[in-house]
Amino acid sequence: MDASPEAFETRLKTNAREIEAVLDRLLSDRMLNDEIDRPENLRAAMHYAVLNGGKRLRPLLVVESALLLGGDKEAALRVAAALECVHCYSLVHDDLPAMDDDDLRRGKPTVHIAFDEATAILAGDSLLTYAFDIIAADETKLPDQSKVALTLALARAAGLGGMAGGQALDLAAEKNAPGEPGIVTLQAMKTGALIRFACEAGAIVAGAPSDDRKRLRAFGEKIGLAFQLADDILDLTSDAATMGKATGKDAGRGKGTLVGLHGIDWAEARLAEHVREAEALLSPYAERSTILAEAARFIAGRKS
Ligand code: IPE
Ligand code: IPE
Ligand code: MG
Ligand code: MG
Ligand code: MG
Repeated sequence: MDASPEAFETRLKTNAREIEAVLDRLLSDRMLNDEIDRPENLRAAMHYAVLNGGKRLRPLLVVESALLLGGDKEAALRVAAALECVHCYSLVHDDLPAMDDDDLRRGKPTVHIAFDEATAILAGDSLLTYAFDIIAADETKLPDQSKVALTLALARAAGLGGMAGGQALDLAAEKNAPGEPGIVTLQAMKTGALIRFACEAGAIVAGAPSDDRKRLRAFGEKIGLAFQLADDILDLTSDAATMGKATGKDAGRGKGTLVGLHGIDWAEARLAEHVREAEALLSPYAERSTILAEAARFIAGRKS
């Protein structure tokens, strides 16, 4: 299979269109069974928060991990949509004045600017809840046992011991600078946990044996660390027009980052090491995993 960076980017774009079609349907004004109403302003804010651009890297990881292990694509797309809802909620709340206080996301005004703060909080709440609805719903054609495993893994990845807990540590680190182990933990939680889930979810969708599930999980863990390291490098080296979000803010806010601690050269060397280790984890799958290997390289080399 052709897995040049160009082929990868084409795949990323195709997958983005597919996942966006699923998300657009899920966030339409069509009510689901037992919903009493869909308040239009809140629905519009959720739709804006999710369908406002975005690389859709996590959805790609879900789908490609599932396909690698023989999983069903339609089911993988539903799980990918659920994860993207959690990711977008995390961005909406991350941008709030009480958190990173950002006005720009994906090149557009953040949700609390385009709507208002209360609506942004509620859009985040509803997106998080909706993720579990999407997994559990009949339209997600997976055995109940897989749905329970996905629910548990996503809850663990998103909550106290995962993304939200990591965000709390991130904010605390602005006041009390952590050392390297503290930074690694907070990044593994705030960013790594959802990316690890993306890869592990593919294995769950495929009903893969536990060895594969562990391997994909370890791969996700590695690229999750790489992802935040790249984000922190880009905060220092890129600009808002390229990134679609404010840059040059981490140092000023005293964010605990490895780039802040060790500098760019160290961070870039570490990033390359993460990618090598991630690729090594895929070796049993040989050329069947070229897209995932290319995803690891994309994460490290991305420009936005
Ligand atoms: C941004 O994630 C938040 C971090 C975890 C650093 P992405 O860079 O994947 O954001 P989108 O979804 O492409 O906008
Ligand atoms: C984001 O970390 C982590 C989550 C949204 C959970 P950042 O605060 O660095 O992300 P950006 O730079 O705003 O996208
Ligand atoms: Mg943040
Ligand atoms: Mg932020
Ligand atoms: Mg950042």
